[in-house]
Amino acid sequence: MSSPPRRRVRCLMVCLGNICRSPMAESLLASKISQRPDLEHVEVDSAGTGGWHAGEEPDRRTRQVLEANGITRWSRARQFQPGDWEAFDFIVAMDEDNVADLLRTRGARRDKLSLATSWLRGGEGPVPDPYYGSIGDFEAIFRQLDDITDAMLPVLAKHGR
Ligand code: 4NP
Repeated sequence: MSSPPRRRVRCLMVCLGNICRSPMAESLLASKISQRPDLEHVEVDSAGTGGWHAGEEPDRRTRQVLEANGITRWSRARQFQPGDWEAFDFIVAMDEDNVADLLRTRGARRDKLSLATSWLRGGEGPVPDPYYGSIGDFEAIFRQLDDITDAMLPVLAKHGR
């Protein structure tokens, strides 16, 4: 007998502008999911607490670092909306400002919200905003998000059974 279909698990990565950190996190996680049959039930998206960049592609430096690591798919920016609290199971914020901004939105669900670094053993602090930084800052964030998304995989694999 085949096993019953697994419940979808939806994961939303959130930063301020949704053009640097959270799209990088989304593309990294989506790339890992696409290589793992045991993560077929997982969907990933990203959003910004701010809407200034809605509709735009990720920042050129985010795309550059993703492409340098063999990742060529990304989505366009959108602003977080209150309905996301219901639509997603895991909402992962890049820094404490994102956490505070999210908690001020209608229908906020503290139980679904985590700080990205909290997925790492002993992890704390932000995934720092690289917008006014160098390409080296984007590369550092890629490594940080690579570790964070790796740490999420076993939890996502178990979830939805
Ligand atoms: P992100 O970076 O939150 O990682 O996408 C930023 C992008 C744009 C702005 C700030 C941060 N901005 O002020 O436009």
